[in-house]
Amino acid sequence: MNILTLPTKSPILSKEFVYGVATSSFQIEGAPQGRLKSIWDTFCETPGKIADNSNGLIACEHVKRWRDDIALIDSLGVDAYRFSISWPRVVHKDGSLNKEGMQFYVDLVDELNGRGIKPFVTLYHWDLPQYLEDNGGWLNRDTAYHFRDYAEMVCRALGNKVHAYATLNEPFCSAYLGYEIGVHAPGLTGQANGRKAAHHLLLGHGLAMQAMRKVTPDSLYGIVLNFTPCYPESDSAADKTATRQADEYINQWYMQPVMEGTYPDVIEQLDINNRPDILPGDMAVISQPLDYLGVNFYTRLRYRADGKGWFDEIQPTNVATTEMGWEIYPQALTELLVSLDKRYSLPPIYITENGAAMDDKLADNQVNDEDRVKYYNDHLNALHQAKIQGVNLVGYFAWSLMDNFEWAEGYEKRFGIVYVDYATQKRTVKLSGLAYKNLITQR
Ligand code: FCB
Repeated sequence: MNILTLPTKSPILSKEFVYGVATSSFQIEGAPQGRLKSIWDTFCETPGKIADNSNGLIACEHVKRWRDDIALIDSLGVDAYRFSISWPRVVHKDGSLNKEGMQFYVDLVDELNGRGIKPFVTLYHWDLPQYLEDNGGWLNRDTAYHFRDYAEMVCRALGNKVHAYATLNEPFCSAYLGYEIGVHAPGLTGQANGRKAAHHLLLGHGLAMQAMRKVTPDSLYGIVLNFTPCYPESDSAADKTATRQADEYINQWYMQPVMEGTYPDVIEQLDINNRPDILPGDMAVISQPLDYLGVNFYTRLRYRADGKGWFDEIQPTNVATTEMGWEIYPQALTELLVSLDKRYSLPPIYITENGAAMDDKLADNQVNDEDRVKYYNDHLNALHQAKIQGVNLVGYFAWSLMDNFEWAEGYEKRFGIVYVDYATQKRTVKLSGLAYKNLITQR
């Protein structure tokens, strides 16, 4: 497959539908000398944590090459660019503004606006300043307030130049992967840690929303949540119950507080010592009205009852997967959006990430990633289905603009629609990038 095809007159082919590409600071920037250390620098220094023993010190050298990268983004014909601000690049250790670091983003945003590309800014895509981790990181309630202060400072610096702000990217990953099972920075473990971190992240989200709106009321404000829809292995009541628990534990744990100000019922099943410390007023802060919701989607998971009143995740076998081992199951994207729409009173939805790691080969200056084109084609068609079923979908971002540091997988997994040759930093638009451009520009 080498082109993306949607039904003619699909509502997601309207000119108003926003198409973009996405990245995050630690994954592309490099240039650590211009910033403080982050928890991901420390994690990369810990033997055994990153598959290829790599780190973010060079990455895609985006801080050096940003003008060319924006020209590249422009050449893809997109309407918007989603990127994140490196918290450790824009603050000093006392929490005050690092003007030079901030200037990088001011220039970036100016360049984007100059080219008519809408800036979508994420404030926290996992690179917590290490000095805050040294004081407990997200286990320390104070971090939520530091996050608010940082967010407010960014708004003051960028003014109304930003189309849309997202507070957090995927608090599930920060809390669960980082503080509960330890496969992401800072590498801590334990249910009590995971649940505590999640609560403080969500609190930080709510506090930042309140503060930022006051400074720059004309931007849009939201949060980016990742969803992995949960399906039962069988029709048995036990598997269905286990699946509902899993959904509440990994997905609704973030969605329900933000939308409705309550944690899902599964919280009652946790040992009392593992539940977060919820202070009076917290849930009202967390459930601030959103201008939009960012949804990240890659795959689904299947579950069975573990026989002890909890759930077991089933590893995908004998199904089509990406290089991450994630099942390719686009219909879950339609079903997810339709079910969220039924369950909640949703604001407009952007798909803020969707994409696939594939086994790319660069030959003759080309990457013929037909498998990735098919992944995009099937997921865009799944979105078309959700849209015609009434979901208020307003935009879509491909993850990612270019190959980059894929966290615990290092540079071995490539998600870009642009290929990066790390030896030369040369960028080559893949077939998927060309197909994406075609789809967008033919509207
Ligand atoms: C998401 C992250 C993003 C990228 C993709 C593959 O969980 O937000 O940074 O790593 O997965």
